Amino acid sequence: MTTHKKTPDTLRSARWFAPDDLRGFGHRSRAMQMGYAPEEWAGRPVIGIVNTWSDINPCHTHFKQRVEDVKRGVLQAGGFPIELPALSLAEQYVKPTTMLYRNMLAMDAEELLRCHPVDGVVLMGGCDKTTPALLMGATSAGLPAIYVPAGPMLRGNWQGHTLGSGSDAWKFWDDRRAGIITEQQWIGIQGGIARSHGTCMTMGTASTMTAIAEALGMTLPGASSIPAPDANHVRMSSESGRRIVEMVWEDLTPARIQTRKAFENAITVAMAMGCSTNAIIHVIAQGRRAGHDISLDDFEKASRKVPVIANVRPSGDKYLMEDFFYAGGLPAMMTRIREHLHLDEMTVTGRTLGQNIEGAAVYNDDVIRTVENPVYAEGSLAVLRGNLAPDGCVMKPGAADPRFLKHSGPALVFDDYPSMKAAIDDENLDVTADHVLILRNAGPQGGPGMPEWGMLPIPKKLVKQGVRDMVRLSDARMSGTSYGACILHVSPESYVGGPLGLVRNGDIITLDVDARTISLDVDDAELQRRRAEWRQPERRYERGYGWMFSKHIEQADQGCDFDFLRTDFGAPVREPDI
Ligand code: FES
Ligand code: MG
Repeated sequence: MTTHKKTPDTLRSARWFAPDDLRGFGHRSRAMQMGYAPEEWAGRPVIGIVNTWSDINPCHTHFKQRVEDVKRGVLQAGGFPIELPALSLAEQYVKPTTMLYRNMLAMDAEELLRCHPVDGVVLMGGCDKTTPALLMGATSAGLPAIYVPAGPMLRGNWQGHTLGSGSDAWKFWDDRRAGIITEQQWIGIQGGIARSHGTCMTMGTASTMTAIAEALGMTLPGASSIPAPDANHVRMSSESGRRIVEMVWEDLTPARIQTRKAFENAITVAMAMGCSTNAIIHVIAQGRRAGHDISLDDFEKASRKVPVIANVRPSGDKYLMEDFFYAGGLPAMMTRIREHLHLDEMTVTGRTLGQNIEGAAVYNDDVIRTVENPVYAEGSLAVLRGNLAPDGCVMKPGAADPRFLKHSGPALVFDDYPSMKAAIDDENLDVTADHVLILRNAGPQGGPGMPEWGMLPIPKKLVKQGVRDMVRLSDARMSGTSYGACILHVSPESYVGGPLGLVRNGDIITLDVDARTISLDVDDAELQRRRAEWRQPERRYERGYGWMFSKHIEQADQGCDFDFLRTDFGAPVREPDI
């Protein structure tokens, strides 16, 4: 049993509501203006519910209703719920990329909690960047927090075919470009690929990041695998509402949950899931908010020892998150990698991770494999280094055609996304399947915001010849639902003078994934000459948020947080004067 550390008069919200002074009068009278009687808040934990619902976020559509289930739970446990709407980052609609705004949502969440009379928080997110953003913000705010993942949508369906978010869009788009499917079939796919609310149901960034939240100990056990439309999701939401009230009394803060070992658990789970490459950036940023120096090496180390056992696309061959849930979900998967996990880490339940997964069982050994029969024995992600990427770059070897894991080929360079897009369908483009396609000026500053441009399209001319994979290299990211021999997050990025900016058409690039190396076969004297000629491209944002972003964004290997949001920046923020 956990002991209660807080009392009604030591609640943070009591600073607003309890004092018999003019301010206290103002706070109480305004609560009464909203129709609440004093007994509804007095002495009760005030629970902020940071909700990322919006009318243009299809992954979070159900949050408009689900927030009522969370509130019901909070009320049942004797808390006082207040919904705090936050920036809703819908992956498909926000341009140039949601990554430009991840830190803005993180600041939004942190400051919402800091400035309001809140004792604890329920975080409602799920679509890609919303998970790391909310957790980063809540970690910096430091109040007890529980995460409610939106949950994956149902499997896609079109004419009896199961369709996976993202992955099948890319696949059928190539078929359409090659003239293999008709316009009518394409329209059919459009209506079938996303047929319920919820997040992408492949192992994209959303499913990766919510699994990470659960492995960190920040969600109820099993929460991240429940499909959004499932009644279990409603019950998980109200249970989270009940639990956060207890967490406030127990003063169970993120600092007590998010230890370094908890982050190691998160990385282990990400590897076993066959995670999105985006996880690397987000977990580094989250870890650093929690005060731990997580780096690319932590991923490389875990990747060498943890097999991919979740047979979920795109790393797996046919299953989706709905199947993963029916097979037992994340707690079941964690039982299979027990020996790689730190089971004594505390979670939001007030119990350890080991206690949470006790009794969990796998119901389908093909969906959740054993470690003896993995999808990949090792290497969900690989970190490569060399003269082209002194601070590292990443790839997903399992998602690439194996013949590219050791490859040398001439570079075909694009300086920006529009020029790549304009050239790639030109059937006279001088390109072969052995070329290495390069996109630069697509990094944290160059993009800006590192758009998901890293899975460069295969040139149309080659698609028609049946080519479906090539080596592609960029300082961009790619969607977690993408696949192929794509080497991403090249650091430092070209925009700030990284060596990627010095590559010219025809230069030979050599890649050896086993050796974890990538090199540009051009001698140093020539590179020096090119460096002297190099000019930084013009900035895209000269004012506003984008301007601030470009002044403070860190490189990909550092997690792309703002420098001033690091925990070691400046002095700790004091509680507001009231
Ligand atoms: Fe929201 Fe994929 S678009 S999770
Ligand atoms: Mg995505």
